Amino acid sequence: KKILFVASEAVPFIKTGGLADVVGSLPKYFDKEEYDIRVMVPKYLCIKQEWRDQMKYVTHFYMNLAWRSQYVGILELEYDGVKFYFIDNEYYFAGPKPYGNIYEDIEKFAFFSKAAISALPSLDFRPDIIHCHDWQTGLVPVFLKDSFQNNPFFQGIKTVMTIHNLKFQGIWDMKTVKDITGLDASYFTPDKLEAYGDANYLKGGIVYADAVTTVSDTYAEEIKMPYYGEHLDGLMRARANSLRGIVNGIDYKEYDPETDKYIVRNYNAVNFRKEKIKNKTALQQELGLNVDPKKMMIGIVSRLTDQKGFDLIAYVMDELCQDEVQIVALGTGEERYENMFRHFAWKYQGKVSANIFYSEAMSHKVYASCDAFLMPSQFEPCGLSQLMSLRYGTVPIVRETGGLKDTVEPYNEYESKGTGFSFTNYNAHEMLHTIRYAEHIYYDKKREWNKIIDRAMAKDFSWNSSAKRYEELYNWLAG
Ligand code: ADP
Ligand code: GLC
Repeated sequence: KKILFVASEAVPFIKTGGLADVVGSLPKYFDKEEYDIRVMVPKYLCIKQEWRDQMKYVTHFYMNLAWRSQYVGILELEYDGVKFYFIDNEYYFAGPKPYGNIYEDIEKFAFFSKAAISALPSLDFRPDIIHCHDWQTGLVPVFLKDSFQNNPFFQGIKTVMTIHNLKFQGIWDMKTVKDITGLDASYFTPDKLEAYGDANYLKGGIVYADAVTTVSDTYAEEIKMPYYGEHLDGLMRARANSLRGIVNGIDYKEYDPETDKYIVRNYNAVNFRKEKIKNKTALQQELGLNVDPKKMMIGIVSRLTDQKGFDLIAYVMDELCQDEVQIVALGTGEERYENMFRHFAWKYQGKVSANIFYSEAMSHKVYASCDAFLMPSQFEPCGLSQLMSLRYGTVPIVRETGGLKDTVEPYNEYESKGTGFSFTNYNAHEMLHTIRYAEHIYYDKKREWNKIIDRAMAKDFSWNSSAKRYEELYNWLAG
């Protein structure tokens, strides 16, 4: 079976969040005999030159998007056994980052979605299924039903829409979207692309796709309810029969404490008791924290946004800093949270380290060096950071929502079970209480703590089992 992933980002070429990890790594984990999975992303100018130099030109043509005629170039590059296609257009993809203002992006991804379909006849690859990811590709199923249905080449191609984050839907006013896309007015009704008087790309994708998935079972349930449904819970309930949750995995070769080149000391499930700690002292030195192998170090690697629960952290940070802990934060995002961490790093020197930048290398160091990892999200479709932490034997402290609930098993002192600590309500002191409970186990019951690490490192969140679930979905769709 031939499957084409269409997405706005993919590692190793371009990444702003977990979407890129999923799109870039999942294709490697399918049964190669049965499934030919390829990936299509924009050829952004901000992709590193070393990658751009390796891309090979395939062809180009001009495509009508509403009344405009636009250049579509196609390039390709095989990486780690997976073929990637890049859609080239220097007008749309020239920005310093993949995403810009929403009004730019609305046109950019209408272009990308239509170009992705238009490119297919020029490739030696006719997919049975086009697998779309997030709102940026929501128009793919729509265009496919519309402009292409009379062409026999496209007939019978099925579509999957995966929701990585329902919060972002690609919403803009209908008049502009009609003008940009050239789609007929009949598409802009509340049973199709319209939502609350505006045009909504993700809604279009959900309505027109043959199957809809999201990235954990719990999130699949949550988004049918108003609290998590982002105003589309009614639609999610209506599509409940074709909506399923398939939990994300991570690339176990990329995230492997035994071979990781970014960390000072490699370790595994057997020798972590002695070796992991050397990463901690090295990081304390590097970041100017007090060097003390015994001090409990809590890590954060995240986009600094409301989604990730930073208002809870801001609220109790002073209290938390009275405890015997160190806090290492790595992230970028909303200015008030960036400044919040800078402030506390200044106030509690040697105890708090604020790293307000993006760095693959530093993220690996944090996952490997810390004792615990804090992720108190307000909502979390899946979350990959907690999976990376589990893999590195760094005990996650999370709020029980979405994928966090599905992947972190709460510690139970009486049954000696669990891989992390969790709390239910979105409440700062409930979080603080949970962190303090973790501190107690860490300092007073070290053997118990180490057993939590044993269980965490024994978990398997590689892609193997989830790739099987996508295979089942593809088989069912393609017949
Ligand atoms: P989301 O996609 O919502 O941001 P995920 O947990 O699914 O959350 O994925 C986040 C990914 O981005 C992880 O691979 C994480 O390590 C990475 N990441 C986030 N912030 C940074 C940063 N400042 N530097 C390096 N990696 C980061
Ligand atoms: C989104 C979600 C995150 C998920 C990622 C990959 O960015 O916020 O929870 O892990 O997509 O699916």
